[in-house]
Amino acid sequence: MRKKTRIGILTAGGDCPGLNAAIRAVGKSAICDYGYEVIGFKDGFRGIALSNYVALDARALSGILTIGGTILGTSREKPTKIEVEGELKDMTDVIISNYKRLGLKALICIGGGGTQKSALKLAKAGLNIITIPKTIDNDIPYTDTAIGFDTALTIAIEAIDRLHSTAHSHHRIVIVELMGHNTGWLTLGAGLAGGADVILIPEIPFDVQKVAAAIEARKARGSPFSIVAVAEGATPVSDLKQHMEKSRANHKIFSTLKRILDKASPAEHPLLLALALEQLTGLESRVTILGYVQRGGAPSAADRLLATTLGTAAVRLVSEGRFGVMVGLSQGEIKPVPLELVANRRKEVPLDHPWIRAARAIGTCLGD
Ligand code: F6P
Repeated sequence: MRKKTRIGILTAGGDCPGLNAAIRAVGKSAICDYGYEVIGFKDGFRGIALSNYVALDARALSGILTIGGTILGTSREKPTKIEVEGELKDMTDVIISNYKRLGLKALICIGGGGTQKSALKLAKAGLNIITIPKTIDNDIPYTDTAIGFDTALTIAIEAIDRLHSTAHSHHRIVIVELMGHNTGWLTLGAGLAGGADVILIPEIPFDVQKVAAAIEARKARGSPFSIVAVAEGATPVSDLKQHMEKSRANHKIFSTLKRILDKASPAEHPLLLALALEQLTGLESRVTILGYVQRGGAPSAADRLLATTLGTAAVRLVSEGRFGVMVGLSQGEIKPVPLELVANRRKEVPLDHPWIRAARAIGTCLGD
């Protein structure tokens, strides 16, 4: 009897909602449409390096569409740095030999920016690789969106909606910190959809004085409360010192802020921002860090659709023998993009993006 064609799949990087929907789509399409056999490597590239895998048959793929996280587990380990017996080892050659020994026709890697880089290296080493973009940060280039982003947006706007009513009732500033690594897609999208009064993203360094002025202007108009959505990667303008020189009254605040900001871990930044805004506006301030809530739980309808579309498209590419690409989505169309174009690049929010223009048009302060 002829041996079945076998493909492998793994999830790498941070988890997000929709990973299982993508695994299911790849598996079901591979089994039903093409008669392939599918194996899933555990914990990202670590699984193929250590030959740790499970069979993904119809039974294993059943009932996982709505489940958050990934049934395969994930890790941020790269093929070149896998921890083995307490040491970081370059396992690229082992991965290549395991791939061959297991008789894989292709390896599908679901992941974010780091995964695209690792995948490109394996593709260059001769493996048949296809990637599927996932990240709540939405920072992967050559795709309009990535699995997990829509769900994270939905979770974040629900949180902002809830923060609105408490900020309003207590006449407070509420600073809500969102994820996004070094880009502001999640904060901008959620801030705009959630009606935040101030949105601070890494692409636009913010001036704390301007943020305070916007909050004071709202207060003067009869709204003594504000929601400030701040991305984890947002940074104050580098010229805080200049502000100190210009404003003698605020000298102490800014020198303290600068000193603490220089030393603070990113997690402490919103607290410092709260302190500065409280002192500058006289309004009581509170901080909420949404954190890992943004990455947890069931995927939204849009993420299930995206995961199913990209997952099935990835298997189609395997059947066509098209490798070394990421399945991107561009204006509703599936576009295979060479990994060379995707890896080592980050999609930032363009300063003329319609969301930025819309935010400015409705009077949202972007900190500049
Ligand atoms: O890349 C997704 C992301 O959620 C970022 O927004 C965040 O900076 C990072 O992962 C945190 O991930 P972890 O703590 O799991 O490494």
